[in-house]
Amino acid sequence: MLIHTIDEVREKVKEWKKQGFTVGLVPTMGALHNGHLSLIKKSVEKCDKTVVSVFVNPIQFCPGEDLEKYPRTLDADEKLCNDAGVDIIFAPSPKEMYGDGHILSNDFLTYVIPPFFYVNKLCGKSRVGHFDGVCTVVNKLFNIVQPDFAFFGEKDRQQLIILKKMVKDLNIPVRIIPCPIVREENGLALSSRNKYLSDEDKQHALALSKILFNIKACYNNGIKDVSELSETAYSYLNNHHSLEYLEFRDADDLEEKKTADDNTIVFIALKIGNVRLIDNIALR
Ligand code: PAF
Repeated sequence: MLIHTIDEVREKVKEWKKQGFTVGLVPTMGALHNGHLSLIKKSVEKCDKTVVSVFVNPIQFCPGEDLEKYPRTLDADEKLCNDAGVDIIFAPSPKEMYGDGHILSNDFLTYVIPPFFYVNKLCGKSRVGHFDGVCTVVNKLFNIVQPDFAFFGEKDRQQLIILKKMVKDLNIPVRIIPCPIVREENGLALSSRNKYLSDEDKQHALALSKILFNIKACYNNGIKDVSELSETAYSYLNNHHSLEYLEFRDADDLEEKKTADDNTIVFIALKIGNVRLIDNIALR
């Protein structure tokens, strides 16, 4: 069932809760692919009822990013959700979420601001304010849907870690369920932004997963020194790539690692033309 208003979702969820049903929420920005589908499947399996939100959240896009261009495919998303057994697709307008005129500046809107230590690195460094927008909208979705479980992909690992921290710090009664990255057979991590890549770009995009898989193989062969592990990346890069970061950080608190261990995540971001892609791998 496709719903566009907050009141209708609340009404439906209230009925479910009265009947003792557990509720799962899968927050998305739409343009659903098999990565999202794996989250949806987990929720449908684990919870009595599943809500998928489809909302391209304007406040998490920085100036100059792809807000206008971001793929919007609601009809296809609705079909995929219906086929997967989703109970509600919640697709609000920006006005429904942020009010009249939706004045998206923090002079006029209450924001949830995650801790600086978690956002002053990796994607947060180049996407200033991005995680404020993510935490604010996810907090709103939690308040609207009041799910027992919420499902997030490990593809956006920094986001996942920040959202877990938000739930803990703000005592939000929801359990976050992390879901593994889904990859194409060639290793490319699924992402809605892959739609921006030409066939040639897609070949260049394989560098991300190749670098990560190779680092993991080296780690498994006994190399623990982070500078030595980082060195192995350069042979996969060419002039089509602009490396934004390759960093080794703790899986829980994003502290930088000089020596890799089983709790280390390797994070990578690189640009191919105008398309910025991210990926990560756990060394455990
Ligand atoms: O990961 C995403 O697609 C978005 O950041 C999220 C969590 C749906 C919030 O808009």
